[in-house]
Amino acid sequence: MHLSPEPDATPDPAAPDDPAARLAAVLAELTPWPEDGSRADGPVAVDATDRLLLDEAAPLLAGAGPDDVVVLGDRFGALTLGALTLGPARVRTFTDATTAEAALDHHLAADVMDLVRGGRRVDIVGADLYTEASQLLAGARLVLLQLPPSLAELTEIAEAIARHAADDVTVLAGGRVKHMTRSMNEGLAASFTDVRASLARQKSRVLIARGVRPEAREAAPSFPARAVLRDAELLTAAAAAGGPAPEGVAVVAHGGTFAGPALDLGTRFLLTTAAKWPDAERVHDALDLGSGTGLLAAVLALRYPDARVIGTDRSAAAVASTRATAEANGVGERVAVLRDDAGEGLEPQSVDLILLNPPFHDRAAVRTDAAHRMFAAAGRALRQGGELWCVFNTALHYKQALTRSVGPTVHIEQNPKFTVTRSRRR
Ligand SMILES: C[S@@+](CC[C@H](N)C(=O)[O-])C[C@H]1O[C@@H](n2cnc3c(N)ncnc32)[C@H](O)[C@@H]1O
Repeated sequence: MHLSPEPDATPDPAAPDDPAARLAAVLAELTPWPEDGSRADGPVAVDATDRLLLDEAAPLLAGAGPDDVVVLGDRFGALTLGALTLGPARVRTFTDATTAEAALDHHLAADVMDLVRGGRRVDIVGADLYTEASQLLAGARLVLLQLPPSLAELTEIAEAIARHAADDVTVLAGGRVKHMTRSMNEGLAASFTDVRASLARQKSRVLIARGVRPEAREAAPSFPARAVLRDAELLTAAAAAGGPAPEGVAVVAHGGTFAGPALDLGTRFLLTTAAKWPDAERVHDALDLGSGTGLLAAVLALRYPDARVIGTDRSAAAVASTRATAEANGVGERVAVLRDDAGEGLEPQSVDLILLNPPFHDRAAVRTDAAHRMFAAAGRALRQGGELWCVFNTALHYKQALTRSVGPTVHIEQNPKFTVTRSRRR
């Protein structure tokens, strides 16, 4: 990763000496980047959970060394920059969404870094939880975490901390009380002997976990989960023209991925239309937009054995899963995987077929703006005559938006729950 604030040992005369005062100044500077409102977890860059976590962590941060502190799931940079301001000269950080990483990057480039440094040389090391867990967590003594929405994601994180962190690690995991469940305590308690909750403040609470269970150090990780799926729709869609259907399609799912190691109902409905997708002669490059576990990317690679396939998602868990799913199906060499926000970085006019099951929820919120940005990206990425096949909740009425962003759109299949459309690039 690429997070490296310019080292600068020159004290800013305007920066207050007191870390608590500098922290207040730092947090006041943070903005919910990007400022176009596209982040569901905005519009506040620093929420009550960030503040509570930093307050709980302050005594531990004050004496922390450069290898002690790890931040996971930072939304806009408040935890990473806040932790750096309050003590250690170096913080390791990982956040699942590329959009959250971009917000931290944005703040690194801004004046706020003078306040964070307070005249010291500081460093932020980014590492990927799924491919660089040891780099990210080895020897950590304090982990600050914004609780993820799914228990599977929390379990995977807790297991990784238990495997790599120091024996005396303290995990501070914060969230909004309304999103917290008892099973989160239990998820942490499977890896740590001592789990308790802080008092709630402004509707946020912190779970505090300590004491790595010795068995959790050595246990085989529960994630990524692996399965071989034999759903008829999946096998039929994955069959190459004139060839037999595969006996199964493998899926590999990290804890944070949509649908886990199973076939989502909407995705299943999209697969029922495979007989109407373009013939192999017309598909040289195919795209799974918002790939999740990468099941659709695997289907594309199996169905079109001569095509190059791209799977793209903003989530690190999804990207790691898509790569592993492609490899598990023996098509890893033909599936390129890209971590990207709404497919914005795709080459214009570079693909012939796109499959899309767009996001409906963004973490806890119901959002459709990512779907609209994906339609626009699909319109740009398709070659002339190329096709976008999209499944969505019938109540959403996306036909007009698809026509505007891509081209003429027809309903191919519909039931009370889902609609599948085909949009052809003008
Ligand atoms: C409904 S799931 C579909 C996953 C997979 N294609 C399937 O059919 O199982 C939507 C996916 O879009 C991803 N996503 C959400 N917002 C995104 C964004 N702004 N940019 C890229 N991917 C995004 C989510 O991480 C999720 O994996």
